[in-house]
Amino acid sequence: MPRPLAGIDRFPRIRLGHAPTPLDAAPNLGAALGIELWIKRDDCTGLALGGNKVRQLEFYLGEAQARGADTVLITGAVQSNFVRLAAAGARQLGMDIHIQLEERVDDADALYRASGNVLLDRLLGATMHSLPSGEDEAAADAALERLARSLADEGRKPYVIHLGIDHPPLGGLGYVLAANEVMEQARARGFGFDAVVCASGSALTHAGTLVGMRAIGETMPVSGICVRRDASRQHPRVAGRAAELAAMIGRSDVFDESEVDVSDEVHPPGYGKLNDAVREAMSMAARLEALLLDPVYTGKAMAGLIAHVRSGRIAAGSRVLFLHTGGLPAIFAYAARLAP
Ligand SMILES: Cc1ncc(COP(=O)(O)O)c(C=O)c1O
Repeated sequence: MPRPLAGIDRFPRIRLGHAPTPLDAAPNLGAALGIELWIKRDDCTGLALGGNKVRQLEFYLGEAQARGADTVLITGAVQSNFVRLAAAGARQLGMDIHIQLEERVDDADALYRASGNVLLDRLLGATMHSLPSGEDEAAADAALERLARSLADEGRKPYVIHLGIDHPPLGGLGYVLAANEVMEQARARGFGFDAVVCASGSALTHAGTLVGMRAIGETMPVSGICVRRDASRQHPRVAGRAAELAAMIGRSDVFDESEVDVSDEVHPPGYGKLNDAVREAMSMAARLEALLLDPVYTGKAMAGLIAHVRSGRIAAGSRVLFLHTGGLPAIFAYAARLAP
């Protein structure tokens, strides 16, 4: 019988993280919410404090190495985890790294600009550039391309990790594989999940998990909690990325747009901004479970999970999988805003 994920084998991949990551029960937080809660610990992927982007970078840096690149370029928010992990991955592979930090948050303080991921970017020796605006993905990619051309003129072999949706969603393949990994762990314990919840930003984690689940025959809802843009803009993005991923692995049959599930109740006031629901989620997870969440992604995603349980969208007693996608260095950059 053909393996359901055999289509991934044609994409070059470099192992950067520790997998499988743990699948942990969260009985105290689960009991407080009236569900059976499990956490996929992708904050424990290894590589420079870890996170979901490690699985995605295994494919981008795999391609970079296959093309003979010696320099990686990436763009992201000032406190981007993706940027920090691209720097770490590039360093591990002996490559140079240029990062472009975009101004996406209008109330940035001194800690935001110097602590957390920025501190780690510096430690990793990344060459830093800045972009005054953070809302235009095409402009951010175009600025990176210009930088890549000037590096090529100097004799470097640059590889650009693009942000925009006009480039293939390679990183999502990491979550197609992760879906299989977590279901193997669940099956070994003799159960499945009624629902999966994760943060939905670039959408590659969300779309990859959805396609990965369907490719191995799992039918539970995969709920994405908006962390970057509202649901009306995120929905088509997830649908498009998922359709591309399904096609890339030769399994277009497994994806149907009607299955895309995104919600944005806890997203306001916007990307990287705290609200009371996020504060409550971070505090409940820490106090009940010693589970640390970040203010930008996983805190918002857990706030979305809690909102779904309270509204009945996730039924009482359900067995729910929460994807912990990492992001913990940002806690320190948000210290002033998180202070009671
Ligand atoms: C910690 C963390 N969680 C979740 C996400 C969202 O993942 P994706 O961009 O694949 O939607 C990100 C994105 O940067 C992240 O850094």
